[in-house]
Amino acid sequence: MGKNVVAINASPRARWNTAQLVQEAARGAEDVGAQVEVVNLYQLEPFMGCRSCFACMTEKSFGRCAIKDGLTETLDKIARADGLILGSPNYFGRPTAGFRALYERLCFQHLTYDLAQFSSNERSIPVLFVMASNAPDDKYDEIGYTAMIEEHVRTLERFIGPTTSFYTGDTLQTDSYDKFNWTMFDVEAKQRRHEEVFPQELARVRALAAELFA
Ligand SMILES: Cc1cc2nc3c(=O)[nH]c(=O)nc-3n(C[C@H](O)[C@H](O)[C@H](O)COP(=O)(O)O)c2cc1C
Repeated sequence: MGKNVVAINASPRARWNTAQLVQEAARGAEDVGAQVEVVNLYQLEPFMGCRSCFACMTEKSFGRCAIKDGLTETLDKIARADGLILGSPNYFGRPTAGFRALYERLCFQHLTYDLAQFSSNERSIPVLFVMASNAPDDKYDEIGYTAMIEEHVRTLERFIGPTTSFYTGDTLQTDSYDKFNWTMFDVEAKQRRHEEVFPQELARVRALAAELFA
């Protein structure tokens, strides 16, 4: 039996860069026999971030987020999964608000504040953390994105399982730059990168997922 992998697109856009990266990572997992369910976070019923009720630290709901909302089913799916793909665009130097809500609840439900056992999660699963950004990849160190990604990797490793990151920058943000006065961008260069480099990035994330979820 292949692995059961949950793949999250935490971009509000269901067909753009992050969605495609997540979809290709899902294909990579499928290439090696996994069954993958892709969840578009922004198409779920409304949900919130952690509300600090600490129910997940009580016997009744130990290690399980007790909030019942649009995220509950996805958290349940992740709890049963053998692997997790988490993709988000970069919004102001961080993953999106929707990603953050999931991340808070996914990770905090396993935090214990118990010196004897810092995490209640006994089922470590591999995680692939994917990010798309406007900033180009080669600026990541300089503008702090490498450190930000590493911080997320550390937290995911602590509470979910061994985490690998993948990022790609300088994405195409729209298919109609002519509608806006976005003088910052070299539209032709953006378009060219989208046609020439982005497909290679999709292939790269697919191969990486195939390795991780084999
Ligand atoms: C609210 C918002 C904030 C953004 N902030 C940043 C940023 O701080 N750094 C960056 O590199 N890109 C930023 N971007 C650009 C997106 O990360 C980039 O266009 C990404 O490819 C969008 O992902 P998507 O195509 O999957 O929706 C921002 C976009 C939006 C909508």
